[in-house]
Order: sequence, then structure tokens, then C-alpha cells
Amino acid sequence: WLPNIIFKTKLILKLLFKTNCCAILHSTTILLLLYFQNSLLISSDGSYGFVSERSPCACHTCVADRGNSNWFSERYDPNVPLLLNSTNSVLNANVSRWWKLFPLFPDKEHYSDTGSDRCRTCAVVGNSGNLLGSKYGSLIDVHDFIMRINKGPTEGYEKDVGSKTTHRIVYPESAIDLDNSTHLVLLPVKILDIQWLISAFTTKNITQTYTEVPSTIKANKDKVMILHPEFIRYVYDNWAEGHGSYPSTGFLTLIFALHICDEVNIFGFGATSDGIWHHYFEKILTSYDIGIHAGRFENETINRLQQENKILIYKGWP
Ligand SMILES: *[C@@H]1O[C@H](CO)[C@@H](O)[C@H](O)[C@H]1NC(C)=O
Ligand SMILES: *[C@@H]1O[C@H](CO)[C@@H](O)[C@H](O)[C@H]1NC(C)=O
Ligand SMILES: *[C@@H]1O[C@H](CO)[C@@H](O)[C@H](O)[C@H]1NC(C)=O
Ligand SMILES: *[C@@H]1O[C@H](CO)[C@@H](O)[C@H](O)[C@H]1NC(C)=O
Ligand SMILES: *[C@@H]1O[C@H](CO)[C@@H](O)[C@H](O)[C@H]1NC(C)=O
Repeated sequence: WLPNIIFKTKLILKLLFKTNCCAILHSTTILLLLYFQNSLLISSDGSYGFVSERSPCACHTCVADRGNSNWFSERYDPNVPLLLNSTNSVLNANVSRWWKLFPLFPDKEHYSDTGSDRCRTCAVVGNSGNLLGSKYGSLIDVHDFIMRINKGPTEGYEKDVGSKTTHRIVYPESAIDLDNSTHLVLLPVKILDIQWLISAFTTKNITQTYTEVPSTIKANKDKVMILHPEFIRYVYDNWAEGHGSYPSTGFLTLIFALHICDEVNIFGFGATSDGIWHHYFEKILTSYDIGIHAGRFENETINRLQQENKILIYKGWP
């Protein structure tokens, strides 16, 4: 007997109240329901039983629920370090101390709050031209986290891309000013990137990597995060399966979202329906796999994530 609905107790109680059937429930039954929180199954014929598995989150479906896709669980490692801090740093401890990296930026474990009573929804907003005319703005803005990539602006495009940003994933060459409530999430691909981040908030004297970079940026120092190099390697090995020489920022951000969110919706990925690749804020055409990213493979992986019920892709317009 495979039950077709799994509810959390809270939802069940809500349902019971709604259908006014509480009168027939003894208080002991309610106590039982509470006792077996998150372990209740209701089968299609209305009977119920208990399982020991706790739901990993409070959403209808949870990204981290690995029981329902072998393909996903072979790739998803819930224990991979996501963000650098003083205890998991791969940098030589003396180098790290000399840089004063973690006195400068928050030193803590972020997002260890997963649990059966959390339902965190996230929008990952790519920069594809398929956002133009989509009118996704208000839909994007209702998510708990809204993650944007590189220079993708909101100003002037609010109707289609929304106006809120909780996280912006950048590298020095793609950094822009942020508002005070947005997390700057650095994607470091070289030691100089971390040095640039420190410089941007202190001496402001690094102005050059392989190209000119801003010597400083407006951003809230207390909200800075640095993606862990081991996380980047994990995305390359497990999710890009070694395709291309480096995962794209958009792809990394999507996998990051799979680790810190319970429900992930993606916007602005892929081409427009007539196969044109460009950024919504630029007229220049871009090509998805001529560069260092294996666009075709990333595209397949993203489609597969949707097939496995892990994400929802909003395809945009037209
Ligand atoms: C760090 O510095 C201490 C003292 O300055 C030194 O003894 C130690 O060898 C250094 N460690 C590394 C890994 O360089
Ligand atoms: C650093 O992150 C790790 C997880 O990657 C965590 O176990 C550890 O507690 C964190 N350290 C600090 C100082 O918060
Ligand atoms: C930004 O937020 C920090 C706290 O995170 C606060 O100390 C600072 O005053 C704020 N700056 C502005 C301009 O609001
Ligand atoms: C920036 O300034 C710091 C401290 O004054 C100095 O140690 C460092 O060498 C300088 N870096 C560059 C690239 O000028
Ligand atoms: C990406 O995947 C979708 C769905 O399979 C497909 O229609 C589209 O052509 C792919 N795009 C590219 C550029 O391969």
C-alpha cells in the first residue's frame, strides 16, 4: 500500500479544522498526532499509518528529500562545505590570520537551520533574454531568497525580473554595488579574488586582476559570504560531471540554492524560444557553450532536475 499523500501534522490539523471533522477526533488522537509529528501517512482510502522517516522540510516537496530520486541522491552531498569560515578554511591558517579574513567578514556557519518545520522558497534568477516580457517580477519577489547572478540589474526591469535581491553571486570582474540588505556571495576562482574582496573593504588598492576591477564596491560587510572552493569542486565533479573547464556562475548558484533552500524555482535560464542567447540587459548575443562552460550539459542537468521534481523552470517569454 503506497500512500499518495504525505502531510506534516500541522497541515493535517489545518485540514481537519477546515473540514470540521475535529469533533469526531478524541483528544488522545490529537496527542498521538502531535507525538508522531512528521511521521504520519495518509493513504488514499483515508486510513493512516506511521513511518519513521521525518520530512526534511515543511514544503509540499523538499529539495533535500533524497528518497525519491536515485539520480539526485547519487549527486547530492548534504555534507559538502558551502561557505568558507575560519574552521573549514582550506587556506593556510597563518595566511588566513595574516589576511584578517574572518575578523573582517562574518565567521559562522550559515544555513544550518534545515529542519522539518522550515519551508524556504528560493528564486534563482539567471540573466537570459527570455525574461524580457515575462512579467515574472511579482512572482519572483514573493520568494524568501532571491538570488541574482553577476551584473544582472533590477532597475528598469522590475516588471520582468522583480526588484528584491537577497543574494548576489559575483566574482571581482563581475561585481557591482549592492544595497545594504543583500548578501555579496563571492565565487573565488583564484587567491587574488579573496585578496580583492579584502582590499575592496579595506585598503582599496587592488584594481587589476586579468582585467580592470573596481577597487571597492558598496556592500554590507556583515553580509559577505565566500563560496567554499570544495563546494565549487563538488559542483564540477558531481553536477557538471567534469564537462567544460569550469561550471557557470548560474549553474553554481542553482546548486547552492539546492543546498540552502527547500523549494527552488528558476527564472532566466536558457535561450529565448527562438534559440537566441543574450542577456536581458544587453543587446550583445552570447553563446552558451563556446566559452569555458559546458552549456549543453548544464542545460541537460537543469532539465533533469525538473524531471526529478527538484526544481521548477520558468521558461520565460515568448
Ligand atoms: C604559522 O606560524 C607559526 C608561528 O608564527 C609557525 O610556527 C608555523 O609553522 C606556521 N604554520 C604554517 C603552516 O606555516
Ligand atoms: C564553518 O563551517 C562548517 C561547515 O562547513 C561548520 O561545521 C563550522 O561550525 C563553521 N565554523 C564556524 C566558526 O562557524
Ligand atoms: C547597513 O547594515 C549594517 C548592519 O548590518 C549597519 O550597521 C549599517 O549602518 C547599515 N548601513 C546603511 C547605510 O543602512
Ligand atoms: C595594498 O596595500 C597593502 C597594505 O598597505 C600592501 O601590503 C599591499 O602590498 C598593497 N597591494 C597592492 C596590490 O598594491
Ligand atoms: C535545453 O534543453 C531543452 C529541453 O530539453 C531543449 O529544448 C533546448 O533545446 C536545450 N537548449 C540547448 C541550447 O541545448
